[in-house]
Amino acid sequence: MSEQDLAARYGPWAVITGASDGTGLAFARRLAQAGINLILVARNAGKLSGAAAELQGMGVACVTASVDLGAPGAAARIAEAAGDREVGLLITNAGADPNGSRFLDKEFGAWDALVTMNVNTTMGLAHHFGRGMKARGRGGMILVSSGACYGGLHGIAAYCAAKGFVLNFAEALWAELRHDGVDVLTLVLGRTDTPSHRKILEESGQAVPEDMATPEEVAEVGLRQLPHGPIWNWGQPNDVAGMAPNSPDQRRAKIVMIEQMSAAYTNRTEEQPA
Ligand SMILES: NC(=O)c1ccc[n+]([C@@H]2O[C@H](COP(=O)([O-])OP(=O)(O)OC[C@H]3O[C@@H](n4cnc5c(N)ncnc54)[C@H](OP(=O)(O)O)[C@@H]3O)[C@@H](O)[C@H]2O)c1
Repeated sequence: MSEQDLAARYGPWAVITGASDGTGLAFARRLAQAGINLILVARNAGKLSGAAAELQGMGVACVTASVDLGAPGAAARIAEAAGDREVGLLITNAGADPNGSRFLDKEFGAWDALVTMNVNTTMGLAHHFGRGMKARGRGGMILVSSGACYGGLHGIAAYCAAKGFVLNFAEALWAELRHDGVDVLTLVLGRTDTPSHRKILEESGQAVPEDMATPEEVAEVGLRQLPHGPIWNWGQPNDVAGMAPNSPDQRRAKIVMIEQMSAAYTNRTEEQPA
């Protein structure tokens, strides 16, 4: 998609969570090149200001919101920071598991925060910004996920479950918004060379793998695939299942088939945005 098309389809403002480094910052740089203004979210205010200064130097306006996505009310705080700016793109990027622990070996609060970040905050942001997109008849959402979304795995129980939510939520939103000009994609990543991932590798004494995706590749591919949701599995064509029991193409076909079968239920409960 050309820079002009990106801005026309997903501008004039984008919200990116985890925008101060890694894939979030790469998305921000790519969108700044297209002239899209940015609402940048992360916890560390100093790192956020550094990112904002760089991006403003590329000619776009930036708003920073220092918010813990794992705390209750995070989505409302981000909505408040965005104010009445016209947000045409939401990228829920932050969501890695920093714990490196089996479920019972860590206090519950760590898992509570991880699930809040990936589930409640993601849902709150999609609801708030999605309503504006639907009313305008254009926009996009990229919900970043992991191959862990396809099933439970040892050592990352809450992470798998939370990313499973992201997968199912994104598929359903894709189905509900595809007739309204709003694109929804869950970007299922594999190993990517981000500071958070490097920290985990270092803490667990692992060598840095040579085959990791770069954040720049992730941002480029994510924006390219956004109109072709609901799923993009990193590094695999859409007719290949990979870590999943079925491919994105098969899952899409099933969603469309069931949408037709269940239309009567949906129409009965539809409520107009305030
Ligand atoms: N890297 C990989 O190999 C890999 C593989 C599969 C999937 N993914 C997915 O890709 C996404 C990005 O991963 P990542 O490796 O870049 O790590 P990440 O920790 O999810 O993202 C780092 C960014 O998020 C911010 N952040 C982290 N926790 C936050 C919180 N509680 N509240 C607000 N901001 C927070 C960080 O800044 P602050 O620390 O200042 O808050 C930083 O800007 C995640 O959803 C992850 O699950 C990554």
